[in-house]
Amino acid sequence: MPVITEIEDLKRLYKRRAPRMFYDYAESGSWTEQTFRENSSDFDKIYLRQRVAVDMDNRSTKTQMLGEDAAMPVALAPVGLTGMQDADGEIKAARAAEKFGVPFTLSTMSICSIEDVAEHTKKPFWFQVYTLKDDDFMQRLFDRAKAANCSAIVVTVDLQVLGQRHKDLKNGLSAPPKLTIPTMLNLATKWRWGLGMLGTKRRFFGNIVGHAHGVKDPSSLSTWTAEAFDPSLDWDRIRQFKKMWGGKMIVKGIMEPEDAVEAVNAGADAIIVSNHGGRQLDGALSSIRVLPAILDSVGDRVEVHLDSGIRSGQDVLKALAMGASGTYIGRAYVYGLGAMGEAGVTKALEVIHREMDISMGFCGHTDINKVDRSILRVPKGFSGDWE
Ligand code: GLV
Repeated sequence: MPVITEIEDLKRLYKRRAPRMFYDYAESGSWTEQTFRENSSDFDKIYLRQRVAVDMDNRSTKTQMLGEDAAMPVALAPVGLTGMQDADGEIKAARAAEKFGVPFTLSTMSICSIEDVAEHTKKPFWFQVYTLKDDDFMQRLFDRAKAANCSAIVVTVDLQVLGQRHKDLKNGLSAPPKLTIPTMLNLATKWRWGLGMLGTKRRFFGNIVGHAHGVKDPSSLSTWTAEAFDPSLDWDRIRQFKKMWGGKMIVKGIMEPEDAVEAVNAGADAIIVSNHGGRQLDGALSSIRVLPAILDSVGDRVEVHLDSGIRSGQDVLKALAMGASGTYIGRAYVYGLGAMGEAGVTKALEVIHREMDISMGFCGHTDINKVDRSILRVPKGFSGDWE
């Protein structure tokens, strides 16, 4: 067993163990992947200021996200097809998050259903909502999330249509995979994955199959998003969701201050600055670059969280120091899941926690809630000086 000391180690192992199709699904951005790359590389442009001879004993990374206690300001992001990366992946990830003490968000596009996750966890989780045209389906989705005791919904507002990811089309991405010759040849080398899949019945989009109507091929992500998703989503519809749900709502996918204001006016209790991990609008700025402008517009009204690009504890620390009150990891935990199942998700959380905790100490702080912009050197013009 290789020694795992960083997220990159988990990624290497994940690449070996997961079918090519699902590795590619996670490890893609849309079109040229510029935004996907810059989400991470922009974190490298921000520097941390080292302070010395400051007592760094008794450090704490404990905080709250949306009023819920969190062992660190890092939640698991909603990730589609997680249960294809490793059998029962959403259940495993939710369990790892619960044990670690961080929020877990289940995607509408998950393999394990809301009920599956609720059955295998104790702590309420968050449920991510996509807008489908079918109103009955939407109402049932909210009812199901309520029955499962979900403590918040995360409404994703940047995916009315799917950004094109070349590899998914070339690979014929589907859940479960269609057994073409190239896929079978690849699966033949992934015995660990295959054994897991043989041992579970959860191999379809668990929230959709049997619940949504009028979808011709519910195994194909691109087909059913094109057929079932509502391209006419607007802020009134989001207001309606808030009413239908009746609980806390996080709006995910905000990149511009005007939209942040709209989201808050529509009833958001928190927003997530996100470009969907660079999977939707290629050519958008990284989320860390747009964070300051969004904080200026709504930071005094709601919690502002951030995802996209985080692969280390230092990245988390930088996002917090820039003003985010919480962050999400997606790929970073999927690498762990595909590498080692639940233990791999725990490992990813441990790696990020340790990096964040020690780096915070090096910056002269012992309480994550007190970290602020003074620990950073941000290049002039980082957040934009655009014409
Ligand atoms: C779904 O949310 C995706 O980005 O594939």
